[in-house]
Amino acid sequence: MNILILGSGGREHAFAWKIAQSPLCNKLFVAPGNAGTALVATNLPIAFNDTEAITRAVQEQEIDLLVIGPEEPLVKGLVNRLRANKKLAKLRIVGPDQRGAQLEGSKDFSKQFMQRYGIPTAASRTFTAETLEEGLAYLDAHQVPIVLKADGLAAGKGVIITESISEARAVLTDMLTGGRFGEAGHKVVVEQFLKGIELSVFVLTDGVNYKILPEAKDYKRIGEGDTGPNTGGMGAVSPVKFATAKFLNKVEEKIVKPTLAGLQKEDIRYQGFIFVGLINVKDEPYVIEYNARMGDPETEVVLPRIQNDFVELMVATADGELDKIQLQISPQTAVTTVVVSGGYPDTYEKGKSITDLSTLDDVTTFHAGTKPGFNGHVLTDGGRVLALTAVANSLENAVMKSQKAARTVQFEGKYYRKDIGLDLIRYQD
Ligand code: AMP
Ligand code: GLY
Repeated sequence: MNILILGSGGREHAFAWKIAQSPLCNKLFVAPGNAGTALVATNLPIAFNDTEAITRAVQEQEIDLLVIGPEEPLVKGLVNRLRANKKLAKLRIVGPDQRGAQLEGSKDFSKQFMQRYGIPTAASRTFTAETLEEGLAYLDAHQVPIVLKADGLAAGKGVIITESISEARAVLTDMLTGGRFGEAGHKVVVEQFLKGIELSVFVLTDGVNYKILPEAKDYKRIGEGDTGPNTGGMGAVSPVKFATAKFLNKVEEKIVKPTLAGLQKEDIRYQGFIFVGLINVKDEPYVIEYNARMGDPETEVVLPRIQNDFVELMVATADGELDKIQLQISPQTAVTTVVVSGGYPDTYEKGKSITDLSTLDDVTTFHAGTKPGFNGHVLTDGGRVLALTAVANSLENAVMKSQKAARTVQFEGKYYRKDIGLDLIRYQD
């Protein structure tokens, strides 16, 4: 099969790395890709939401399978546009259509969806410019901390958690009438704060059948000890100690099954990944968000633990035959440390030369934001630059190897968190 992956981050490099290992894969393309995907695939200079260019590439390269990495093309309806094209009738696509992607694209939709199907989540209310006064009164009566969420996609920046009612009032007013977050902030979900540990659970579904992939824990804040601003993710670990079989069973019964039943009831044929971001509150799972895609950097620890042929999994997803697949998961622990550009998640410089990556022999090096330079050099090209994944028999060893690689690799302004996985090493139940 000829396969095209859309996206350019560590998640897409991990997809490419895994797909390239399959005997079913003939030609592999990534659009637009990065210096890492270029090592295992052919990069195509196409933006991931350029429908015309993608359609042309699918026809010219005789693509059989399309795997869509990021949320933006999903939420903007790329899948609907490709499916409407009769010339692409044979193209298999992994990724939901626009209605399915609303699970991520609209926080208000996803909250109402959870309420309709009795899926545990924080109590919330949604406000618009017309109901601003009501919203302000609601905030005045709300306990702190308060969680405010812009309804639409806001590149991970649309969630504000504050201890101050007056700040919450200012944020709500600014989103609803001041244009903060633009269109995405025209509706705001005000939500109860949940205290507990976060977990990412990944479901692969063909619209009817599903597989629960290995769970992961993400390290979202820039600073050690989970301090400072949110990032795309500074590291990840899989498996996660507190996610016991009993807890994951609750997740399946109370969240995964009703979510899929709800999608079917609403005639949404969802074929792709559902990423359930949840908080474990006293051993009970509560959904804080759905994403219509895999996580990044979670993919960089989830995929190395999946032993199945990944192309078989993707084809079964697109063909509605996931029931024929038996998942095989490695019991080993995977840890990834993300190495970022100095200044990230605020402003940072690009184009810094990275030292020889071939010397990092204890890890799988996934490129997140890189581009090829001259003479085989690799240059930084984003905030998150590399995700260095180690797989070992113990969490301790995996942490050690991943961290050693993060210490070894050099480029001007390099930063990484030195505490990835340490909370789980210390975790006692
Ligand atoms: P999201 O963009 O929805 O992933 O939210 C960003 C982060 O905000 C999450 O990873 C959580 O750490 C935090 N968060 C979101 N909703 C809640 C909530 N209801 N209670 C506590 N923390 C939350
Ligand atoms: N690592 C969090 C995300 O992919 O949204």
